[in-house]
Amino acid sequence: MEKYIINGGNKLYGSIEIQSAKNSVLPILAATVLTDDKVKILNAPNITDVKNMAKILSKLGCDVMYENGNIIVDSSRADCYEIPRQLAHELRSSVFLLGSVISRFHTAKIAYPGGCDIGLRPVDLHLAGLKRLGVEIDEEKGYIICKCEKLKGNEIMLDCPSVGATENLMLAAVKAEGATVIKNAAREPEIEDLQRLLNCMGAKVRGAGSGTIVIEGVRELHGCEFLPIPDRIEAGTFLIAAAMCGGEVELNRVCAENISSLLHKLRENGCKIYLNNDKIILENHKRPTSVKSIETQPYPGFPTDLQAQITALCCICRGQSIITENLFETRFKYVPELRKMGADVTVINRNAFVRGVERFNGATVIAHDLRGGAALVSAALAAEGRSEVLNISHIDRGYGSFEYKLRSLGGDIVRISI
Ligand code: EPZ
Repeated sequence: MEKYIINGGNKLYGSIEIQSAKNSVLPILAATVLTDDKVKILNAPNITDVKNMAKILSKLGCDVMYENGNIIVDSSRADCYEIPRQLAHELRSSVFLLGSVISRFHTAKIAYPGGCDIGLRPVDLHLAGLKRLGVEIDEEKGYIICKCEKLKGNEIMLDCPSVGATENLMLAAVKAEGATVIKNAAREPEIEDLQRLLNCMGAKVRGAGSGTIVIEGVRELHGCEFLPIPDRIEAGTFLIAAAMCGGEVELNRVCAENISSLLHKLRENGCKIYLNNDKIILENHKRPTSVKSIETQPYPGFPTDLQAQITALCCICRGQSIITENLFETRFKYVPELRKMGADVTVINRNAFVRGVERFNGATVIAHDLRGGAALVSAALAAEGRSEVLNISHIDRGYGSFEYKLRSLGGDIVRISI
């Protein structure tokens, strides 16, 4: 077990580089199963979710190599279609592997990924879409068992623009017989990134980023070398931390367009934001002004993965805010921890009602999930006094070198083993 010890109150100054997007690299790793050639993923983030996905690929018989911050996957010897229960539970996004494993083996077996600390996380849309492509699906003893003689292209209408379901179905359809149309598809930048990767491997995918994706099945895919997009959620997390602590922070290798909804809110908070090619500079030297309302929505709306972080910012703004979480049922588990730090925030159903206070007081708090944990770290950095953040393995799932980057900006944060 490890924890952070943080002495709050320092302003943040300096420049950091943003990692490649976790939520791009995970489906891209699943895509490597679709070819016997090597796929090289450049600048892969050094995070637990990626390591766990690599472990699952190894269990399937793939050779996974790490080389100077890149990951190389060789699936030519992949010979197993069962994703082990323990790993499936540890990593929800293992469900993305269904599409590519079925495409390769015409069968797949995966333990139900189950819910987690932000909600039920069903996979009904994944399974309904796979059935449209000809997959027979049984569920027994907590396992999903898929069989399919031949994947056949079809039209699929998603009841909601699920990111994972969109990606899973893209992976299943790229080598299916005929064309597939996915309607009401998710529009996230990571979907476009997956399309770019698949086309780089010889697939024929178009329309990612719009609500309709068209996939013409091809017989074979080949290897490639690929640089994923920057992690817009990591970038947003650091921008919000800078807004909370004050100072002037420059992010390198970011795509401002992918977090325009956040930039709009931070400007409303009174932060100065400068854009220059793949850099974003945020400057703030005063107590932020509250934004009246923030609602999480599928892209291009405000991202649910920045909801905890922006709520922490709202807690020390001048004024009141209402934050509404529209995507996940229980994504406010970090709120009682913020209250330990002096926040005035009340959660009723999917709404958090915030009255801004002057500043947080240091406290010992517990991370319950990835993004909630990151929000607590930002609150501790902005707080008066000393804090401890426990259960930081949640944070390690999605942020590589988190404390190093924060320390390089002047944050007083150390990792302690307990
Ligand atoms: C992806 O999760 C991301 N994870 C999540 O990021 C992100 O919060 C989420 O998309 C929304 O943007 C990865 O990409 C690895 P969804 P995913 O399917 O695919 C419902 C992080 O912090 N739904 O778009 O699981 C679901 O209950 C993580 O990096 C169904 O009802 O999200 C939710 O209400 C957390 N049935 C909504 O759709 C289904 O079959 C959005 O879920 C699938 C989803």
